[in-house]
Amino acid sequence: MKNGLEDVIAAETRLSDVDGEAGRLIIRGISLDHLVETATYEDAAALLLDGFFEQPVAAGELGARLGRARTEVFAHVRTADEALGKMPPVDAVRALVARLPDGEDFDTALRLAAAPAVFLPALLRLGKGETPVAPNPSLPQSADILAMLTAALPSREQVAALDAYLVTICDHGLNASTFASRVIASTKAGLTSSVLAAISALKGPLHGGAPGPVLDMLDTIGTKDNARPWLAEALDRGERLMGFGHRIYRVRDPRADALKQALEPLVGTGQVDLDRIRLSEAVEEAALVILKERKPGRPLDVNVEFYTALLLDALKFPREAFTGVFAIGRTIGWIAHAREQALEGRLIRPRSVYVGPLPRAA
Ligand code: COA
Repeated sequence: MKNGLEDVIAAETRLSDVDGEAGRLIIRGISLDHLVETATYEDAAALLLDGFFEQPVAAGELGARLGRARTEVFAHVRTADEALGKMPPVDAVRALVARLPDGEDFDTALRLAAAPAVFLPALLRLGKGETPVAPNPSLPQSADILAMLTAALPSREQVAALDAYLVTICDHGLNASTFASRVIASTKAGLTSSVLAAISALKGPLHGGAPGPVLDMLDTIGTKDNARPWLAEALDRGERLMGFGHRIYRVRDPRADALKQALEPLVGTGQVDLDRIRLSEAVEEAALVILKERKPGRPLDVNVEFYTALLLDALKFPREAFTGVFAIGRTIGWIAHAREQALEGRLIRPRSVYVGPLPRAA
């Protein structure tokens, strides 16, 4: 028995490969650093979905169809009641996704890829008592998300930063939410069911729920001088430092660097809180030193969530919505894995070791 299924190989995939020793992520044959420099969200989506549906998927056509799918799913926002606006955003997104029809065809996939992108900004506005902004199907998905969030056209740098984020996190091997998606797909339940299971797995703080707490940590630390003492006390209390450590990476998570780079145009044009960036640099530096001292046998480095927090904060997403934004980007990976599993895999049905009492004779 391997606790947490560590090192267990549970699927064969052509979608992505996480090399934890080299700190390298490959998505369909392309290394992340190259993909993030050259691809839009729509390009990455076309790349991931390629070959898993009857019709070939070209990025240009996918963009137009995704735009129409955003308009289609926006109709469901009308069914969002006040209670949904008060729930944690990722739970409310999941509740609305649950109302979409299930299926395995390309239209279902497009609706699912569009749904969190439309629902999250709408729910955030509803939560503040504001009217949701309808999608503009002619915009690329990243620009439209920001326009729906703020009711204003975003800057070029903001669109590029969100696009880089969505591409960076589009797929990442057999992480917990992707595995959940594949388990559901292996039963042939349908793509909507797979995505719902994946969202549920994503929201935990050990997976996609970490970036909000990263920002809380930076706020509590407050000043560069307080970084080391605060981190030491947190570790003394037995806490984990959010935004550090990874099950697979034994070196720096390459997605952290992709996101750090994506932040730079925003930093260069003053579209970020520079004090927070400087503080985060000091916290990262102090955390790496102290983690090395406290856990000498376990290489712990910065992970994707640390820079996610800074980037999404700079884009004016409220911290409670960060996991929902992660879901916007990762949905396309969940869909591709679900299709791969449904088309090529078998029912996933592992065994457990029974360690409970045995029946006694009467
Ligand atoms: N801060 C402090 N210590 C950490 C740590 C962190 N962020 N991450 C791991 N460790 C320590 C554990 O306490 C454990 O120490 P021990 O052996 O003395 O008990 C050791 O490193 C191994 O941890 P383990 O639980 O085996 O790691 P894992 O592979 O199960 O966990 C994470 C991976 C991501 C869940 C873990 O690193 C974590 O909780 N990170 C913080 C949350 C986070 O950033 N999540 C987003 C991931 S992308």
